[in-house]
Amino acid sequence: MLAQLGQSIDGFIASRTGDAEYVTGDADREHLHRLRALVDAVVVGAATVAADDARLTVRAVPGDNPVRVVLDPRGVLPQDTATLTDGAAATLWVVGPEVEVPDGLADHVEVVRWEDDGPMAPHQVLDLLAARGLTRVLVEGGGRLVSAFVEAGAVDRLFLTTAPVLIGDGVPGLRVGGTDRLADALRPAARRWVLGEDVVTEFVLRDGAPEGGATGRGVTSRPPLRSVGHVPAEDEQVHVVDPDPQGA
Ligand SMILES: NC(=O)c1ccc[n+]([C@@H]2O[C@H](COP(=O)([O-])OP(=O)(O)OC[C@H]3O[C@@H](n4cnc5c(N)ncnc54)[C@H](OP(=O)(O)O)[C@@H]3O)[C@@H](O)[C@H]2O)c1
Repeated sequence: MLAQLGQSIDGFIASRTGDAEYVTGDADREHLHRLRALVDAVVVGAATVAADDARLTVRAVPGDNPVRVVLDPRGVLPQDTATLTDGAAATLWVVGPEVEVPDGLADHVEVVRWEDDGPMAPHQVLDLLAARGLTRVLVEGGGRLVSAFVEAGAVDRLFLTTAPVLIGDGVPGLRVGGTDRLADALRPAARRWVLGEDVVTEFVLRDGAPEGGATGRGVTSRPPLRSVGHVPAEDEQVHVVDPDPQGA
């Protein structure tokens, strides 16, 4: 399971008005589209779709569109959003038990009713998707949703892109529970690339082992899978950042 966020160097994914166009640059957008092309389903929070009206399709690289999954416990998804109207790819609209769904939705939209009130538990969401054969999943935002999936231990690889911009105040990006001792902080295995002005850090949070295989706040002791995630092709304008360029 993959997750991604593009955030400012001070940890925000949008301004305080919700303006998120764009935090990161073109190369990171291309990387995001490549991630979409690798998965069966892309999952977003309804708050994100309401703010961005993102199409969630693969356009910057060749590839098939994933199923678009919108998690909407309170029914805040606008009816004219692209995911409900454009027919570009299938949309799974997962709604809370009290949400009134309008008649006459487009054929590409399937409504799934969640049985419980409140936030949708990440592992249950993944079970729901797996039951539909959607096993390769990218959680694309926003900050609250990605953080919930990371906190639940549901994410194998997290691609966190940081852009050299200071937003100062806005929508928080990744937030995980704190620790008293720095030594207890989550410090997963990671590798980095420069993408234009941005830096992508790929965190290996799990190795794809079944639930219970993870060792608490760290990564599993088993070697990370190499088959999931983006490995840049040789001809891409991407290079590994040398963490010690001076040899110091
Ligand atoms: N830079 C980026 O990479 C990026 C990516 C995506 C979005 N954005 C920006 O981020 C902003 C939205 O982010 P956000 O953090 O405020 O919202 P968010 O993560 O999109 O909000 C969570 C949404 O998912 C629903 N949800 C369902 N289950 C959940 C769970 N287990 N945990 C948390 N939420 C759950 C929430 O419903 P309830 O509200 O009913 O709880 C809410 O609609 C927008 O301004 C968007 O433009 C930026």
